[in-house]
Amino acid sequence: MTTNQPPSPHDTPAPLGDRTAKTPVIAFLGTGRMGSPMAENLARSGFGLRVWNRTSSRAATLAEHGAFVARTPAEAVQGAGILITMLADGPATERAANGPDGFLPRCPGLVWVQMATVGARWSARLAVTAARHGVTFVDAPVSGSQAPARTGQLIILASGPDRVHDMLTPVFGALGRTTVWLGPAGDGTRAKLVLNTWLVDLVETTAEALSFTGRLGLDPASIVALLQSSPLGSPYAVQKATTMLAGDFTAAFALKHAVKDAELAVQAAYGIGTHLPLTEALLPRWRHTAVEHADDDLSAVYITA
Ligand SMILES: NC(=O)c1ccc[n+]([C@@H]2O[C@H](COP(=O)([O-])OP(=O)(O)OC[C@H]3O[C@@H](n4cnc5c(N)ncnc54)[C@H](OP(=O)(O)O)[C@@H]3O)[C@@H](O)[C@H]2O)c1
Repeated sequence: MTTNQPPSPHDTPAPLGDRTAKTPVIAFLGTGRMGSPMAENLARSGFGLRVWNRTSSRAATLAEHGAFVARTPAEAVQGAGILITMLADGPATERAANGPDGFLPRCPGLVWVQMATVGARWSARLAVTAARHGVTFVDAPVSGSQAPARTGQLIILASGPDRVHDMLTPVFGALGRTTVWLGPAGDGTRAKLVLNTWLVDLVETTAEALSFTGRLGLDPASIVALLQSSPLGSPYAVQKATTMLAGDFTAAFALKHAVKDAELAVQAAYGIGTHLPLTEALLPRWRHTAVEHADDDLSAVYITA
């Protein structure tokens, strides 16, 4: 494992469509909650940017930052040297790659950086498809939510061939505060599965503890204050506890994606002959909560705790 603290990003914009430019043009697919601020940071750092989003109105604001808004994934990758995908999941990513107007047939020689959380099986499948089309696949999911995405403070769990590390250093430098190179493509996703297992278990513990506090006749806010003043309360748990008590479930990380990530971790565990009893135990209630709160923040699981 190697860790890069990337230098400051390039300041010179590259002309759109010039694959030989020193600063490569970047195609960016998926301008959702995470993708939009990430793409904006790339544009601000001087990269030529070509963006695509299924709902094109959600990509339109990036035009104000100099990005070309493409009508299809295939159009987005024209002339790009690097492609970043930040779509919801594996199926959406595969469709953008191989579906009608998919990018894969159009871009031999491209470096494809897959940054969404798609799980181990999907990451492996996308890597195979990329190789078949002469595309270099880099698996680089991120740790950190919407606020770190906005401020360029994500942690990038990168994995892929050594030969692209230097090329991607300024790109990751514009997106995150730390890049950890973990090994061959797929290791980033495996690390992300572990971090997300930690995350969902922590949120479940937080919700359950607050609910238990209330049922004991204590003020949950006093428990949050206690946790905050002791090593027991991680900053993330305290932040989520605060939003739970405020009843503010505006999504930073949508519950539907948290359920997806918990399911991906459970599947990956089964795949290697083990299991995750805590994560498996929370899933039925989380799925049930997601029926009404799919697009709310994952802290909405407090409602049913
Ligand atoms: N939010 C977080 O805190 C966080 C942190 C780390 C990693 N992640 C991961 O990063 C990825 C993106 O998360 P997000 O929070 O940005 O999600 P989001 O706001 O829900 O955005 C999802 C993106 O995927 C697109 N999409 C969904 N289904 C699609 C389909 N069938 N075909 C084409 N495009 C489709 C959406 O397009 P439309 O605009 O058209 O719906 C949107 O661009 C997910 O894998 C998530 O698990 C999220």
